[in-house]
Amino acid sequence: MNSLNFNDVTLKFGGITALNNVSFEVKPKSLYAIIGPNGAGKTSIFNCVSGIYRPTQGSVTYGDNDIKELRPDQVAELGIARTFQNIELFENMTVLDNILIGAHRHLEYGAISSLFFSKKARKSELEAREIAEEIIDFLEIEQFRYSYILSLPYGVQKRVEIGRALALNPDVLLLDEPAAGMNNEETEDIARFIIDIHEEMGKTVILVDHDMNMVMDIAEEVMVLNFGEKLAEGTPAEIVKDSKVIEAYLGVS
Ligand SMILES: Nc1ncnc2c1ncn2[C@@H]1O[C@H](COP(=O)(O)OP(=O)(O)OP(=O)(O)O)[C@@H](O)[C@H]1O
Ligand SMILES: [Mg+2]
Repeated sequence: MNSLNFNDVTLKFGGITALNNVSFEVKPKSLYAIIGPNGAGKTSIFNCVSGIYRPTQGSVTYGDNDIKELRPDQVAELGIARTFQNIELFENMTVLDNILIGAHRHLEYGAISSLFFSKKARKSELEAREIAEEIIDFLEIEQFRYSYILSLPYGVQKRVEIGRALALNPDVLLLDEPAAGMNNEETEDIARFIIDIHEEMGKTVILVDHDMNMVMDIAEEVMVLNFGEKLAEGTPAEIVKDSKVIEAYLGVS
């Protein structure tokens, strides 16, 4: 497992500076949260990590790998998976099939040959199915296994997206607003899943969310972004009493 590093990253879109000289390090197996107002640049950070955006200046590294040089599929192959703020699932496929796609991907990285040898292919089909079923159990979505994504409530779709990312068996999981649009009970479920992914599965988790109760409850370290700039970084206890953060984002507490 590696550290993920942003080194003086600036990201521009024409006249808009989405990220301005942002540096931070996410250590292996940590639970790191990124918070900040709308448009602060949180999703842009994820897009730079997943190879969707290329920083205008600076670098993003994962261990010895320079992510600027990699395509999104190559980043996934390094063991970095993500969910999207606007759910990106195959809507006309079932929950199981969506998660199976992730599981097959994961197995292919290790066994391209399975495409050519039928016995192996059968084995990998079974393996993928096993992985998918484990994840479905973990996320408590058994009853939706054969449901089409389109027919499912938003909260369940959000879980399936986490499942699809987990099926890749990543070392690092990026979660973009996993609790958005959820009620308290659903948010508590999501928080519990994130804690288990971090503690039981031993994954590095980078979490973006506006639900401050959840973030402050579960994150080990928090970075605050404001207008594309890093405003503060620290433990939740440090962040909640930081006057710059209160002014820019948290409001009077
Ligand atoms: N592809 C793009 N083209 C032009 N501008 C972009 C692009 N992607 C992001 N931006 C701009 O960069 C800034 C940061 O956007 P980003 O989506 O990263 O914010 P965010 O912190 O995720 O906000 P939210 O909390 O609303 O999701 C915004 O001003 C946004 O309009
Ligand atoms: Mg966003």
